[in-house]
Amino acid sequence: MASVVVSARGEQRVRAGHPWIYRADVVDVSADGGEIVDVIGPRHRKIGSALFSDRSQISIRMLTLGDGLEGAERIEGLLRSRIEQAVRFRASLQLDATAYRLVHGEADLLPSLVVDRYGDYLAIQALSQGMDRLLPAITLIVVDLLHPKGVLARNDPKVRALEGLPQSVDVLHGEIPDSIVVREGPVEYDVDLRKGQKTGLFLDQRENREAAARYARGRLLDCFSYNGGFALRLARTCPEAEALDISADAVDRIRANAVRNGVPHLQAREVNVFDELRRLERAGARYDTIVLDPPAFAKNKASIPNAIAGYKEINLRAMRLLNPGGYLITCSCSYNVNEEMFASIIHDASVDSHTPVTMVEKRMQGRDHPVLIGVSETFYLKCFILRRVE
Ligand SMILES: C[S@@+](CC[C@H](N)C(=O)[O-])C[C@H]1O[C@@H](n2cnc3c(N)ncnc32)[C@H](O)[C@@H]1O
Repeated sequence: MASVVVSARGEQRVRAGHPWIYRADVVDVSADGGEIVDVIGPRHRKIGSALFSDRSQISIRMLTLGDGLEGAERIEGLLRSRIEQAVRFRASLQLDATAYRLVHGEADLLPSLVVDRYGDYLAIQALSQGMDRLLPAITLIVVDLLHPKGVLARNDPKVRALEGLPQSVDVLHGEIPDSIVVREGPVEYDVDLRKGQKTGLFLDQRENREAAARYARGRLLDCFSYNGGFALRLARTCPEAEALDISADAVDRIRANAVRNGVPHLQAREVNVFDELRRLERAGARYDTIVLDPPAFAKNKASIPNAIAGYKEINLRAMRLLNPGGYLITCSCSYNVNEEMFASIIHDASVDSHTPVTMVEKRMQGRDHPVLIGVSETFYLKCFILRRVE
């Protein structure tokens, strides 16, 4: 059996419930990248079994603790039972949607694996060398369990490069049409599984879109709208609605989705939100509901200062555009800016814009993207619903 010896610090981390061991805590390696390895502690005791990567900073991703896992049959049995459990959990949530996450990596004890359902189709991401090797077995399991019409590997995220893996999009089973219609509550989306951002939609925001709908009213501005996520849901109760995105393709989709969903008053503009918020402020525009859902500004620790400045700028400007009694739904999906930091940015923006706001709801990613306690990396999405005090 391939094996990796780790330091006392590496062992401690795993015993404290974290599935990763970094390269700096690897002492000795008798394995190739992508293999399932025995993880051995400094006192020659087996800690458990893991996926090994010889390229990434994350060398070890634990699969089991103790002696449990040996041989091909065992790994396939483990994958099947964990995928089954993940699928059962999503079914138990009774989500009012035909698109949602079925497997959320570490939180489903399937580190670096993502499986999203889009109606009759599945999109899969294998984000480590080990999971990449297991992809044929995983495909057989999901086809057997879920009978999808097609399975697409969306293996194009940049993190695959850190693992020395190619970035590609491949049909693994059946057929994948150019466009798939899915439903989220009352909203229908036309999704391009091959080219859409993430695996096609920002599924993690589904419940925040639903929550925002409870407050939305009056004049709406949805910033960083992608294909209309928040705007399509909120335009139903907002007689005036504008959606902004920098991507021409996204803006085309917002327009098509607005027609499909019977909200033709939703106007989409292809603009840079930073410039547009400034322009709107100069023009004296005012809104009753504003959404800020930018991309992750802090992709790593080095970019935190710039990210903080970016979040503060858009929040400050949005607060200035908000009518008294209006709502600001503000999000950050940067894991490196945690909830406390984000709350502090919002505080600074409120002080500097002289806009008193109350926190009405403090939210996170949807329940189909659960957080594994003790693994802070799995809590990445913050969504605050704020109200400007009248
Ligand atoms: C997190 S996604 C938004 C998801 C969307 N709110 C939803 O619910 O589906 C961020 C979006 O911001 C857009 N974007 C990135 N930088 C931008 C900028 N400076 N101005 C406008 N849009 C931008 C991206 O094209 C992407 O569609």
